[in-house]
Amino acid sequence: MMEISSQNTIEKSISCLLFPIAKTDAVKDQLAKAARLAGQGSELLSADFTGAAGEKTTLYGNGLKIHLIGLGEPKNWADLIKPFRSFSHKQAAQLSAATGVWLGGLTSAQALRRAEAAAHGLLLGTYQLGRFRQEPAGQEHPLAQEGAQLMFFGESLSAEEVTAAGQKGLHLAATQMQMMDLVNAPSNYKTPEMLASWALASGEAHGYSVKVLDKAAIQQEGLHALLAVNRGSEVEPRFIIMEYQGQGGNLPKIGLVGKGVTFDTGGVSIKPSTNMHYMKSDMGGAAAVLGTMEAAAKLRLPVHLIGIVPATDNCVDANAIKPGDVIGSYSGKTIEVTDTDAEGRLILADGIAYMLKHYAPDTLIDLATLTGSAVRTFGYHAAALFSSSESLQQQLMALGEAAGERVWPLPLWEVYEEDLKSDTADVRNFSGRPMAGAINAAKFLEFFTHQHPNWAHLDIAGVAFGDNEFSVQKSASGYGLRLLTAFLETF
Ligand code: BES
Ligand code: ZN
Ligand code: ZN
Repeated sequence: MMEISSQNTIEKSISCLLFPIAKTDAVKDQLAKAARLAGQGSELLSADFTGAAGEKTTLYGNGLKIHLIGLGEPKNWADLIKPFRSFSHKQAAQLSAATGVWLGGLTSAQALRRAEAAAHGLLLGTYQLGRFRQEPAGQEHPLAQEGAQLMFFGESLSAEEVTAAGQKGLHLAATQMQMMDLVNAPSNYKTPEMLASWALASGEAHGYSVKVLDKAAIQQEGLHALLAVNRGSEVEPRFIIMEYQGQGGNLPKIGLVGKGVTFDTGGVSIKPSTNMHYMKSDMGGAAAVLGTMEAAAKLRLPVHLIGIVPATDNCVDANAIKPGDVIGSYSGKTIEVTDTDAEGRLILADGIAYMLKHYAPDTLIDLATLTGSAVRTFGYHAAALFSSSESLQQQLMALGEAAGERVWPLPLWEVYEEDLKSDTADVRNFSGRPMAGAINAAKFLEFFTHQHPNWAHLDIAGVAFGDNEFSVQKSASGYGLRLLTAFLETF
């Protein structure tokens, strides 16, 4: 991975310098500085370059290639990262294995923020989707090369702080890329066992403990809802339990549960085939939990964090559960499965019940690509948020806004409980009516939370996977990592 350093004056050895300019910077002064570095006058430049997002100009001179990059008026973290990611992705040939980034003329807070964003975006820009191509798509990205260097320059930078900020950007980007790899992986590669191996390797590398229950252990524990969803499958389920303990005593205990459906055919209530291939992304919640565990450990955040991922695919064969079947669950409650395509809430019910029984976290957050209803409501722009706590809700909304990973609340009113009533079992998993889908799913989960006072459910069906400028088809966004990391950083 790139090595990061920070200096006050530009090194002779540097030939490629990124010069980001926001509309809100002192644009004229910055342009004059860039022109001076390139040994040119700045008059022409000032007429052309305003710092708008998407603007790019290159200056040559003094043995330097200076790429001016417009940052626009970034309103949130994602906005700030994007110009760096775009440049790195689309203009890779313009970069070199030793690339500089100009951070002069800023307040020190601005410089730190920009250093982190530049490192994060530039590394994300090296992300390659073509894992299974025979021919690699062109040359290796300069910043992905062994020994690649990223150097920050600016007159009054504190080298240590700027380097640490850049390092944090790299850490989070590296984890985010792994999350994207997991979500983008096709289901014939991505088995529950493969998710478990990823967790074991990450725990080993970054210092958190991981315990994996195989099918026999899952039976032993009585995780009946997970087993029910797995019945139609050729591959075994896994129940992944991760625990990271920060330094110091009296740490807040946070529990994360992520839906790990490695492919959702719908089961016997089978999905239409158009777009079914996108259902390889039905473990976006699991990816967010796996990634956040790794990030918390890498950044040594002062929390006690527990992550649980129930993992299985939702397939269909002669053994598969059928609509109307009544199943058990870890909590002991019985569930009438009126629709086998509402499988996410079944495995989450077991994940949540297990979390509460064994860890009793102060705060419980679950994430899941749970309903088409959440996509129809918010499109690709926000996750649906349900919470038992007004203050947790406010906090997640504010952090999501700042991160560019928006969440927006929907209600958990009691009237919606009607839709969950079953004649035969304690609860049913679908009302049978195509209405209020995201709310009904959340109400179902609430049934298993024992009225936890600090619970939040994020339906991320619209945001985990979607259209973006980096792929032809829909692909993974890495949603949740920034939001959850920011949440953990508040402690
Ligand atoms: N994995 C889907 C939800 C989904 C839909 C995620 C679109 C991403 C994009 C989930 O398991 C599902 O099938 N939900 C059903 C529930 C219904 C049968 C009650 C839905 O939302 O239609
Ligand atoms: Zn489904
Ligand atoms: Zn699903």
